[in-house]
This record gives sequence, structure tokens and C-alpha cells, in this order.
Amino acid sequence: MYTQLQLRDSARPPVNVASLVKMREQGQKIVCITCYDASYAALVDAAGIDVVLVGDSLGMVIQGHDTTVPVTLDHIIYHCRAVAKGLFRPFLIADMPFMTYTSREQALQNAVRLMQEGGAKMVKLEGGAGQAAIVEFLASHDIAVCAHLGLRPQSVHKTGGFRVQGREDAAAEQMRRDAKLLQDAGADVVLLECIPSALGREITEELHVPVIGIGAGPDTDGQILVLYDVLDITPGRKPRFVQNFQAGHDSPLAGLEAYAAAVRNRTYPGPEHCF
Ligand code: KIV
Repeated sequence: MYTQLQLRDSARPPVNVASLVKMREQGQKIVCITCYDASYAALVDAAGIDVVLVGDSLGMVIQGHDTTVPVTLDHIIYHCRAVAKGLFRPFLIADMPFMTYTSREQALQNAVRLMQEGGAKMVKLEGGAGQAAIVEFLASHDIAVCAHLGLRPQSVHKTGGFRVQGREDAAAEQMRRDAKLLQDAGADVVLLECIPSALGREITEELHVPVIGIGAGPDTDGQILVLYDVLDITPGRKPRFVQNFQAGHDSPLAGLEAYAAAVRNRTYPGPEHCF
């Protein structure tokens, strides 16, 4: 009970938006991972990971779909509630699934459910300038928001698949503008997926909020990967940015610790993981 208040001065105080900003300012890499259940959440916490995302990637790695499109708000709430039970220190973000933020009112109602029923402390939504009004509305209600740019898996049927984004000058310029607009609308964190490293560096330099990357090069403030990729559970071919951290380790905890250490000492991502 009241853990946020009682433990904020402890040796392992819970991570919050202010501590993420401080980590960025101090040049301390932010280690993030996805998670979907309480048991793995406890391991992720024990491994010293800073941020946990209950991602709609659960539609692929848990439910076995080809995309994240079939994931519903109730699915995310179910997994988020389980993850929240296993976490103490990491900051918990929940994905807003496909078509759950098509208007300001719908987005607010669903973000509230993710927080009240799921235990999320921040919500993440995909999209560029078109989402600025939604981000602004959530922020005006003091809801912490992460804006997801670059490869947006909820849009793959429109954009043509899981491909690197922002390779062409015009697309890169648009993404830089979108990132700034979303930050100015009130986004507390920006997540960049699958873009050239140079663009990841430029956007990180241009913003003042923490920037988390997945396949966005080594220069973002933090890195995120899908838990089952880190532990080499996901079958089949993996994206270029994935590294198997379970290799050479005899427990999932050791694999997760290796991931956290590699992000913090900047050995991950290496050039072989970048675009
Ligand atoms: O759903 C998810 O897991 C994500 C990460 C890939 C960042 O959005």
C-alpha cells in the first residue's frame, strides 16, 4: 500500500516520468522490454530493467497472429493487470490497440481503462501529426503518453508491411516534424521503430523528452526489445535489430541481465543491428 510514497527515497525507487527525463539528461541509457505476464515481470524487475511495455506485439508472440491488428483493449488490460502484479521498480506502459484512439473521447476513455483496470502508468499510441490532437487531449488530462513513430505495426496493411521507415529524405523530414509536433502536443516519451540510425540520432538530438528506439540505432536515449526475442523464444526469422541474449546464459534472469548490461554499456545495438 502507498508504495510510491513510502519507497521513493529507497535504494530502488520506482521509475517514473521524472526519472526517465533525468536518465536522459545524465546520459544514462534507459533499458526497456515488453512483457505479458506476472512471472516474467518479476524476472524483468529483478534484472534491473527500467521500463516495461505491455505491447500489442502480444497479438503475435502470445496469440500467434501475423499482425497486431486483432488485439483488443480487453486483451491489453488482461495482460497489463498480470504484469503489474509482478513489477515493483519498472515503469509500466500499456499499448493502445488498433482503433482504440480514433477520437479524443474514445482515447481518453480507453486510456483511463488501461490505467484503472490494467495498472498502466503511461499509454502508448502509434501515429504522426494526425495523432497530435489526441495526445494533447490525453496530456491535458494529465495522462502520460508515449508517441510511437517509424514502423507502425497497426498500419502494416496500409503501409505495405514490416519495413524500415524514413529512408527517403521527404519521409525522414516528415518524421522529424511529427516527433517535434507530438512532443509539443504533450508526449512524454517518443518511441522510434525501425528507422535509419542517423534519423534516430537526429530526432533524439532535436527533442527534449526521452526517446526510446527499437531498430533505430545506438543513439536514442533507451532501447526496447520484445521479451521473447531477447530470450530467443520467438520462432523463425527475426528482424535485423534482434539479439539473442539467452545464448551463453543458463537462466532467463541471466539473459535479461545480459540485455540490460549490454544496453547500459552500449554494446547493444551494434552496427549489425542497425539500418
Ligand atoms: O507492441 C510492441 O511490443 C511494441 C514494441 C515493438 C515497441 O510496440
